[in-house]
Amino acid sequence: MLAIAKAQPNIALIKYWGKRDPERNLPAVGSISVTLSELFTQMSVDLDATVAVDQLEVNGATNEALLPRVQLCLDRVLGSDRQRARVVSQSNFPIAAGLASSASAFSALVVAAASAGGQDRSTSELASLAGASSGSAARSLYGGFAELENYDDDVRVASICSASEWPLRVVVAITMAGPKATSSGEAMEISRKTSPFYSRWVDQQAEDLEVARAAVGARDFEMLAEVSEHNCLKMHSVMWASRPPIMYWNSATIECMQVIRELRSQGVAVFFTIDAGPQLKAVCLPEDENRVQTALAAVDGVSDIMLSGIGDGAALVQQ
Ligand code: PMV
Repeated sequence: MLAIAKAQPNIALIKYWGKRDPERNLPAVGSISVTLSELFTQMSVDLDATVAVDQLEVNGATNEALLPRVQLCLDRVLGSDRQRARVVSQSNFPIAAGLASSASAFSALVVAAASAGGQDRSTSELASLAGASSGSAARSLYGGFAELENYDDDVRVASICSASEWPLRVVVAITMAGPKATSSGEAMEISRKTSPFYSRWVDQQAEDLEVARAAVGARDFEMLAEVSEHNCLKMHSVMWASRPPIMYWNSATIECMQVIRELRSQGVAVFFTIDAGPQLKAVCLPEDENRVQTALAAVDGVSDIMLSGIGDGAALVQQ
C-alpha cells in the first residue's frame, strides 16, 4: 500500500496561461515545455486503513495549507471512498516560487497514488489526472520536450523530442526564494476576466506552438529562442494589463533578462523564459553554459544558480 514516485518540474517555452474550464482546470491554450533533470520532487503515498485522517508532510514539516489540494487529487485518482493516506513530499528546490514545484509534485503524486492503490493506468490517463490539479503537471509525466494539446474536454500530452535528441542546458537564476504572493491559478483567472490582451493571447497561441514545434523538430535554436522569448513576454504582458496587475518580476529578474539579451547579441546561443515567479531560466547550448552561468551569477540580487539538463518523465521508484 506504499508507493514512491519521482518527477521533475518542467518549464514551459510556449506557455499555458488561462483556463477554458476553471471547474475542471482545463487550459485555454496548448503549451510546450522541457523537464529539468536536476530538480525533482519525490512523493510517497502510503494508503493505510488504520489512519483516521489524511496527513501531508512537505519538506520535513506538516503542511495543512496544501492538504486540501492533495486530498482532491487523491480522490480523483482513487475515488472519494479511498483509504486515508500518509503523503510525504520532498523537493530539492524552492517550492511555490515559480519553479514549477506543483508540476513535479502533482505528477509524482498521481503516479504514486495509482500504484499504491494497485491501479494500472496509462501515462495519458495519469497526465489528465495530474493536469486537473495543476495544468502544467500534465506535462511532467513526459520526458524531454512535451507538448500539451487541448482536445474535446480533455488534454493530450506527448513527448515531441527526447532529451538525448536535443540536449540543451537550463541555467536557473534564483532572484528570490520565498513563496509568491499570488498563485498562478488565481492570477490566471484575474487575467481571463480583466486583461484586455487575454483574448489575443489565446488566439495567437496556435501560431507560436506551430513555430516552436517546427523549431524543436529542426533543432533550430535561434527559431526556438525567438518564439519562446516572445511567448514569455506576451504572457507577462497579459498579466501586467490585468486588474489588479500581476507582476512576478523583481529588479534582478529584469537585470537577468538584459544580461541574456546582451549575450545573445554577442552571438551566444541562449534565451530566457520566466514563469509565475521572479526566477529567470536561461536555455542554452551546452558549450555556452559556463558563460551564461558566470554572467547571471554576477547580477546583483541573484542569490543562487541551478544548472540542469533536460530530464525524463515521472516514474515510480518504489512500489
Ligand atoms: O500549472 P500551474 O497552475 O502552476 O500554472 C503554470 C503556469 C506557468 O508556469 C506560468 C506556465 C506554464 O505553462 O507552465
